[in-house]
Amino acid sequence: MSRRAARPRARGLLRHAASPPRRRHDGGGMADKPTQGAAPGDIRPDQRPRTLQACRRCGLWRDATQAVPGAGARRAAIMLVGEQPGDKEDLAGLPFVGPAGALLDKAMAQAGLRRDAVYLTNAVKHFKWQLRGKRRMHKSPAQVEIAACAYWLERELAAVRPRVVVALGATALGAVMGERGHTLKHSLGRELARGDYRVLASYHPSYALRSPDPAGRQAAYQSIVDALEHAGRLADEG
Ligand code: URA
Repeated sequence: MSRRAARPRARGLLRHAASPPRRRHDGGGMADKPTQGAAPGDIRPDQRPRTLQACRRCGLWRDATQAVPGAGARRAAIMLVGEQPGDKEDLAGLPFVGPAGALLDKAMAQAGLRRDAVYLTNAVKHFKWQLRGKRRMHKSPAQVEIAACAYWLERELAAVRPRVVVALGATALGAVMGERGHTLKHSLGRELARGDYRVLASYHPSYALRSPDPAGRQAAYQSIVDALEHAGRLADEG
């Protein structure tokens, strides 16, 4: 079967997830082999962790419940990359199942994308947090943590081989594009490329939830919908 024929259709009548993600605690179910020609994820053979759950490439595993691997269609044409799991994702072991995920679901439905036909993941696979009162509050990952986790993102990219990657927010954009100096502001609405796949950038769903004014929230949300629609068109082009 050709690569094209093997891909699930990202767009269709069924708009929400119909089946549970296949990958949970195994680092994406990918064979433990090095990624070729992918500088951000390259590490020496003796540093390669065998599974995502065993990863000690940075210190974030210490305070997290578990690593959260990507989930979704094995050969999805569209990969969505967020920043890092949040509180709910850390507990569930699944990406985008909390409030940001609910907003993303809504945006995907509006863009005509089925959640079960795309692949969802994060630049960083462990939840980084600080305690405020009794709540674990999101803390932005450091560059060194993003760089350490590039190993896993590169493996997901190599395994899924999407046509289009949508980077949700600046951290995801930096992780996907590497040291190529793409700022989110200048990348919005543009088609970027990395290797074989095209890259679109948008705001992170959390920004569309938390931006201080309603107009900013609506603009961020619309930017996400636009990027997802754009991704759908590119995926259909083949
Ligand atoms: N925010 C992210 O970037 N990823 C998730 O999985 C959840 C919230």
